[in-house]
Amino acid sequence: DEFDLHICCMGAGYVGGPTMAVIAAKCPKVRVCVVDLSQKQIDAWNSPDLPIYEPGLPEVVAQCLGKNLFFSTDIDAEIKKADIVFISVNTPTKTMGIGAGRAANVKNCELCARKIAEVSESDKIVVEKSTVPVRTAQAVRRVLDCNERGLKFQVLSNPEFLAEGTAIPDLMSPDRVLIGGVQTPEGIAAAEKLAGVYANWVPREQILTTNLWSSELSKLVANAFLAQRVSSINSISALCEATGANVSEVSRCVGMDDRIGKRFLNSSIGFGGSCFQKDILNLVYLCETYGLQECADYWNQVILMNNYQKKRFSEKMVSSMFNTVTGKKIAILGFAFKKDTGDVRETPSMFVVRDLVMEQAKVHVYDPQVKREDMWVEMNYTCNLSEETHPGVEAAVTTSTSAYDACDGAHALAVLTEWDEFKELDYQKIYQKMAKPAFVFDGRNILDHEALRKIGFEVHAIGKPDPNKFSDL
Ligand code: NAI
Repeated sequence: DEFDLHICCMGAGYVGGPTMAVIAAKCPKVRVCVVDLSQKQIDAWNSPDLPIYEPGLPEVVAQCLGKNLFFSTDIDAEIKKADIVFISVNTPTKTMGIGAGRAANVKNCELCARKIAEVSESDKIVVEKSTVPVRTAQAVRRVLDCNERGLKFQVLSNPEFLAEGTAIPDLMSPDRVLIGGVQTPEGIAAAEKLAGVYANWVPREQILTTNLWSSELSKLVANAFLAQRVSSINSISALCEATGANVSEVSRCVGMDDRIGKRFLNSSIGFGGSCFQKDILNLVYLCETYGLQECADYWNQVILMNNYQKKRFSEKMVSSMFNTVTGKKIAILGFAFKKDTGDVRETPSMFVVRDLVMEQAKVHVYDPQVKREDMWVEMNYTCNLSEETHPGVEAAVTTSTSAYDACDGAHALAVLTEWDEFKELDYQKIYQKMAKPAFVFDGRNILDHEALRKIGFEVHAIGKPDPNKFSDL
């Protein structure tokens, strides 16, 4: 056919979909097909209503779909055709068995390797895109080597560094592309072939090649360092609230030292998302496996601090509202784990909703991109909270179609996702329709607290001095 190279990607999720769409957009001579077990997921990619919300993604998909970008459930046929097969399947934290609650489940990766070994009719390069425990490539290679046709597979590690919400710009101009491979002539040639794909738009000096284990480990380390910055500043937010210091001022001051850097130093209710906690737990478990308990404890503290921050927030809500929220309407603005995504995996908002529901509040949630169904799937999976485990719980949580509806008659509103639209709301209008005293809990420090206080709100924010508590600000 008219293509120079055929790529198949197993897994059409938050990573596989956007990553392959950008490869297709940047490499017109490469044919890219993303395959998945889920027919529903593939149908959505082939429709105008994509399965994930990501700014800029619909345009990139529309540009390539049906030309050199395809989505299919015909996994066997697409693997057969491919020169390069990416494995971009989910690797969630194990929920049972050995390492439950910490180890990453690599079952899906192994199943992909077995499928490739079973159906391939020619040599291929197999690329681990999923985030995996260090040394997973060894397992993938051994499974592939068991193929019955004597085929030769090269295994590469090519972890993905995109962030949800900015996936398209991150993919279009990545800080770096990392490719790990075995340091043999065949391994080096395979890495070179993959580097050649990225070189269509990424400058060569930003394409790093390393050994397999450095590449696998670097992804875990990158996420652990990012999450550590969030937990570090969050620990300081608690100290700010106790002393009258202002965490935004501290963060700005500290971040202007370019050895430290400004980014990822915002205090909040805590980090969420499918990766930070999972990848740190994965790192912690690896350290333990190698007998490095002190290293495991060190990184585990990042998670404990995050749990503390989430708990501290819901406790503050209850204590501020006269130690009871029973029967009170509370508006939750934002359920996604951050702005510009509909992803709710491990969202901190869920833990606040759970705590308020347990206090028998009437919770009204508004999020511009989250579907009620997805909210309950995640609440059930992560918090074991569902109609089945807690009869009546679905009735205690209303999903509103606007922020104004959610706030109408509420005793408090809590901003839990930093959506830009929450900065633009008419708070005067909201105040008039709320019960008094009207409380605002800003879990992302995005609102103008002075202006809100002037309207009459009682405002609580993260790491900000409370003017009622400190007269000497
Ligand atoms: P996801 O859950 O959105 O997508 C995974 C997809 O793989 C699902 O659609 C699932 O049906 C499919 N799948 C599972 N087993 C399969 C199999 N045997 N054959 C074919 N398809 C199969 O997961 P997501 O978020 O895309 O993550 C994928 C990997 O990338 C994970 O290892 C994650 O840690 C990593 N990652 C995720 C990032 C993110 O922001 N979500 C960023 C960087 C890495």
